[in-house]
Amino acid sequence: MLITGIGTLVTNDPELGTLHDAAIVFAGGRVAWVGTKPPEAAGDTHLDAGGRALIPGFVDSHGHLVFAGERAEEFAARMAGRPYTAGGIRTTVAATRAASDAQLKANLDRLVAEALRSGTTTVETKSGYGLTLPDEERSLKVAAGLERTFLGAHVVPPEHEPDTYTDLVKGAMLDACAPHATWIDVFCEDGAFDADQTRAILAAGIEKGLTPRVHANQLRHGPGVQIAVELRAASADHCTHLSDADIDALANSDTVATLLPGAEFSTRAPYPDARRLLDAGVKVALAADCNPGSSYTTNLPFCIALAVREMHMTPEEAVRAATLGGAQALRRDDVGHLAAGARADAVLLDAPSPVHLAYRPGVPLIHTVFKDGGVS
Ligand code: NIG
Ligand code: FE
Repeated sequence: MLITGIGTLVTNDPELGTLHDAAIVFAGGRVAWVGTKPPEAAGDTHLDAGGRALIPGFVDSHGHLVFAGERAEEFAARMAGRPYTAGGIRTTVAATRAASDAQLKANLDRLVAEALRSGTTTVETKSGYGLTLPDEERSLKVAAGLERTFLGAHVVPPEHEPDTYTDLVKGAMLDACAPHATWIDVFCEDGAFDADQTRAILAAGIEKGLTPRVHANQLRHGPGVQIAVELRAASADHCTHLSDADIDALANSDTVATLLPGAEFSTRAPYPDARRLLDAGVKVALAADCNPGSSYTTNLPFCIALAVREMHMTPEEAVRAATLGGAQALRRDDVGHLAAGARADAVLLDAPSPVHLAYRPGVPLIHTVFKDGGVS
């Protein structure tokens, strides 16, 4: 397929940068060519973009998409003044345990389709609403085909003591779940897992060949970011409450800071200051954190608008963080950019530039989503 007449083409490629009046060729599910003077007869199908912008498909590197039920009443109570706590997770755990595999899969498919319609072409999901060995294992199995993270250490379920549950997570549960995941995550927070438990669980995961990512410093300042850097985690997620030492540690590491403004929106918490991170040279990703408790959205354009308005990112930085940043957080070099050889995952916007994603908040600007070179 040859697409011409692209008003602004964001490649995220260090050499190509952002092109104007550009063209791109997709072949065999990959980008075959990109530039400003299209080769003759490059493809069977020709699409005139009519001056619209083309960006890489969004790479949503943080989601909790395997669950049943919803928590609209908890959200409404919060908006009436009740605080957000990790305890709400247990409501979804009960609903998830009671659901069949088919129900979990149907809900997951619905969310992945919803995400695709808003331009997300790569999706990560965690387990973490099962919290028994069989429920965690099936949560990962139903998500086959997505990026998968084992989050048995989401909270301690009501039937366990913290120590016996930590032993289960890093023992038999990890043994059963590791074959179905690439990543291991721990919610390191008061009311969830402390520093010692977090280290022990992540170390056991590394031993099994999983790569760590950490829910860090979400509700208050804590040790999560330092542990993430120490264990060379792919990403420290949330990063809402950071000290200067946390920022230094991130800046001197390969750990990506994944910011999740949907969670601050839905918990009415203060937003992290992305400017501080970017100015220090930290790699930043933006993700939706879709889950029924703290951020029930799959919509990265909404997160981009929040990041620009509330987290002091420029529109260009926010779009980059939701594409290339997400790819870095998942250690993927085939997505998040549009140079020759990359996956042909891209979004044609109903706007001349990606700035409009923040400039026109809430407006449906997704014109066409390409996944593996095909229109989806
Ligand atoms: O990323 N922080 C931990 N986990 C989720 C929230 C889960 C829930 O409230 O159900 C998050 O925000
Ligand atoms: Fe999360």
